[in-house]
Amino acid sequence: MYLSSSYGEMGNIFAPTRDTLSKAAETIKNGGLVAFPTETVYGLGANALDAAAVRKIFDAKGRPQDNPLILHVANIREASLYADMNPSAELLMQHFWPGPLTIVLYSSDIVPLVTRGNLETVALRVPMNYIALELIHATGLPIAAPSANRSGRPSPTNAETVRNDLGSAVDMIIDGGASSIGVESTVIDATGKKIAILRPGGVTREMLEHIVDVEAEGSSNHARSPGTRHKHYAPSIGVSLWQNDNFEIFSEPAGSWCYLGMRQPPEGSAAQIIFHSLGEYAHELFHALRKLERCGAKRIIADLPEGDGIGEAIRNRLIRAAGC
Ligand code: TXA
Ligand code: MG
Repeated sequence: MYLSSSYGEMGNIFAPTRDTLSKAAETIKNGGLVAFPTETVYGLGANALDAAAVRKIFDAKGRPQDNPLILHVANIREASLYADMNPSAELLMQHFWPGPLTIVLYSSDIVPLVTRGNLETVALRVPMNYIALELIHATGLPIAAPSANRSGRPSPTNAETVRNDLGSAVDMIIDGGASSIGVESTVIDATGKKIAILRPGGVTREMLEHIVDVEAEGSSNHARSPGTRHKHYAPSIGVSLWQNDNFEIFSEPAGSWCYLGMRQPPEGSAAQIIFHSLGEYAHELFHALRKLERCGAKRIIADLPEGDGIGEAIRNRLIRAAGC
């Protein structure tokens, strides 16, 4: 929620005008940091080819150095400048770009090691957001961008949350309103014979399986995404999961817990946020976690939803928020 509609009073938050986008592009070309909206969550961007600029991203977020960044590019042709293409990766790009699918491929030497966490692979995606695309076009560069939160915190889905987390560590924040999907992109490893899903997201397993062979869950020999080793999505109070009718988690005194989810909880919550669809749950999830951590309760109880598609991404984020 904005305190003021005047951007002059919003510090480093800017409306997406021709002027501010061209200033943002200059900032990136000069080695600065710009946070920008995508359809999934807000990203913290820098020139992916400039090792010093990329180091600023790691510093601003407090991000472990071994957690590689995604290159945001304009189109498939540009992706092919930074990675070894293969037929199934190209097919997926044609189907799902622009969109919430990040594809890991063998990297070209042009991409600095710091950008890719010292790996021989690089992650790429074309976002489906006109502000992000304008920025990429205006810089003429691949933009390295992790989610624009302090490392370990829920990802930001609006400009104000970026400012609350990163403050003046970021030169400019472009305000594109609330992110339309709300959870991060699907990350897949496309270096092998079959595709491996490293992080579930907006492009679901079923959608991928229509196009290419996908490794069965749990059968992967692929290293997990480096990011999954680290603490993630954690609000400042504990998260417990309501699943398999474990009603005993509601036995704490009334007012000591708050709630988010699709089912109606028992009486006694300090605050509760109920969603009416999986899409709404995804859209509001991170914002709701940040809201509830300030509700005065000791613990957040989250309903682990059922269902395929985006439901898998929601479960993945909640399980990790709960530290399971
Ligand atoms: O939707 C998104 O993906 C957002 C927006 C801003 O594009 N970005 C995002 O970035 O979520 P980040 O850094 O928070 O998450 C990227 C994930 C991490 O888990 C990271 O480990 C993984 O992608 N990743 C990046 N490069 C990789 C690589 N070469 N191999 C395996 N995993 C990689
Ligand atoms: Mg992240």
